[in-house]
Amino acid sequence: MGDHPGEFLVVGGGIIGLSAAWRLAQAGGEVVLLDPAPASGATAVAAGMLAPVTEAHYGEEELLALNLESRAAWPSFAAELEAASGESVGYNASGTLAIGYDPSDKAALDELHRFQQKLSLESTPLTASACRRLEPALSPAIRGGLDVPGDHQVDPRRVASALLGACREAGVVLERTAAARLLVSSDRAIGVAGEDGREFRAATTVLAAGWRSGELAGLPEGLRPPVRPVKGQLCRLRLDERVPRPARTLRALVRGSFVYLVPREDGELVCGATSEEMGTDRRVTAGAVYQLLRDAQAILPSILEAELVETLAGFRPGSPDNAPLVGPSGLEGLMLATGHFRHGILLAPVTAAIVVELISSGLGEGWQARPALDPRRFTRRRRP
Ligand code: GLY
Repeated sequence: MGDHPGEFLVVGGGIIGLSAAWRLAQAGGEVVLLDPAPASGATAVAAGMLAPVTEAHYGEEELLALNLESRAAWPSFAAELEAASGESVGYNASGTLAIGYDPSDKAALDELHRFQQKLSLESTPLTASACRRLEPALSPAIRGGLDVPGDHQVDPRRVASALLGACREAGVVLERTAAARLLVSSDRAIGVAGEDGREFRAATTVLAAGWRSGELAGLPEGLRPPVRPVKGQLCRLRLDERVPRPARTLRALVRGSFVYLVPREDGELVCGATSEEMGTDRRVTAGAVYQLLRDAQAILPSILEAELVETLAGFRPGSPDNAPLVGPSGLEGLMLATGHFRHGILLAPVTAAIVVELISSGLGEGWQARPALDPRRFTRRRRP
């Protein structure tokens, strides 16, 4: 790009950056996307659950509203993406079954159900035998569950491939280098310097680099987004058609530990995930794989016959309040779309829509439409 400033520069080609780049280009923008290996971070590791109801947490009601909004947007986002790319994204609307393994796990599930009811979320308690009628492969040892038909899933790797195709079709220019440093001139972001030595200048830079977003050199200290890596380890299994396998996503509490099993049409079963504050330690540990498989087989004994295809670890971009940072950074010309923590796949459609909406409205510093996401909720507090 040299010295000629483009319109938009999106830093980071995970699901958030790709979705934002696609939508900006669709809206008529001239977009450059910077990533040495698009969709190779958290997006490639994520299970792809679109599960605001089974992942509802106390104290996260505002985030829940956003999660529900994005869940509602997913079917049309998926259809549009498939039409634009000619690729399937593996959208699966079979629903989710939450399972309690022992009496304490069942009690915790009852508590979750009370919370869901308070928020008028769709969730129906089921006895153990009703769970097994829905999913005959479940162990007879389980104590009961919750049927949550509206929590669906997509295959993030297929979504990323489709987004890359759709971005190409929409004219997004992909530059395969990492961002080394934010370029700032006269109190304004003017683009980034790439690790390959080139400069990529733009009127608006969108920083969507997941947990690495806070590490970009050149960010003014007070405005550095407070995102951190939260390690998740998981396993990918494959069950052939002779082995009983679930149709729905299963999310279980097994003797106090969480495990989920996400079935794909082709027989793949994603089993995850740990949640660890381990900095950037990316090792897959025997202990995590043992714990995941132990708990998964407690509810679904047939997984012992599965092929263990892959074990992997990735980093969720965690934020201090578990909600993302989407909006003006506090530095003119720089917008953030990061910190999506457990919900990056789920929140991609709504995040991309907000990015376009904000940019169309002039990215004013007075923007207050979504205070729960406003990145300045952290930086304001930290600045004198
Ligand atoms: N939302 C699933 C996870 O973070 O593991």
